[in-house]
Amino acid sequence: MDGNGRWAKNRDKPRHVGHEAGLKTLTKIIKHIFNYRISHFSVYAFSSENWLRPQSEVKNLLMLFEKAIDDNFTFLIENKICFHLLGNISKFPKSLQKKIEDLTNQTRQYNKLHFYLAANYGSREELLSASNNLKMQQKKITESIFKNAFYVSNLPDVDLLIRTGGETRLSNFLLWQSAYAELYFTKVLWPDFNKKNLDNALNFFNKKVRKFGKIT
Ligand code: FPP
Repeated sequence: MDGNGRWAKNRDKPRHVGHEAGLKTLTKIIKHIFNYRISHFSVYAFSSENWLRPQSEVKNLLMLFEKAIDDNFTFLIENKICFHLLGNISKFPKSLQKKIEDLTNQTRQYNKLHFYLAANYGSREELLSASNNLKMQQKKITESIFKNAFYVSNLPDVDLLIRTGGETRLSNFLLWQSAYAELYFTKVLWPDFNKKNLDNALNFFNKKVRKFGKIT
């Protein structure tokens, strides 16, 4: 969800205004996702490298995260959305950790849509942590054993990866899971991303012939 800062700058507003607008976009896009046969939807909200941003911006993002949970708790329950936090939450304030745990526990039984929020997430860290957790194991490590040691074991491979804001890199997001992902880059800044932009990305995906290394 890239481009919040630039969106705010274009309006002579502070960066937090861009993140707030970004949150509004996220809640709208989740509602559109329901109109399609999409069962798993992941967003990258805070990378393990984002701690290097000015303290005031980090603090603001963490507060916004708490507000996002408070404002959307009922929506997620009513719409039977299963919430998963993707990342290491131990560095977050205790109040935020509690909200994440409550939301995860209270939506655990739902499967209408699996929603993964990547926060304090870094793919390399995820892969290293899985390797370290498994290194004492005697038996041969298979793909499925390895995946089971990830932050969330049941996250399927990524089919379509959308990056907004014009950059054309993965920035340490779901590197293992995106091995065969179709990559879609758009210059649209995240707060401006709308249903039409989502449709364009899905049309791009639907035209792809996915061969996974085979000929047909
Ligand atoms: C990257 O764009 C965006 C982020 C680091 C934050 C994303 C957060 C939201 C969309 C808010 C909603 C999510 C939750 C749950 C709090 P940037 O701001 O670095 O953009 P820039 O490249 O234009 O500066």
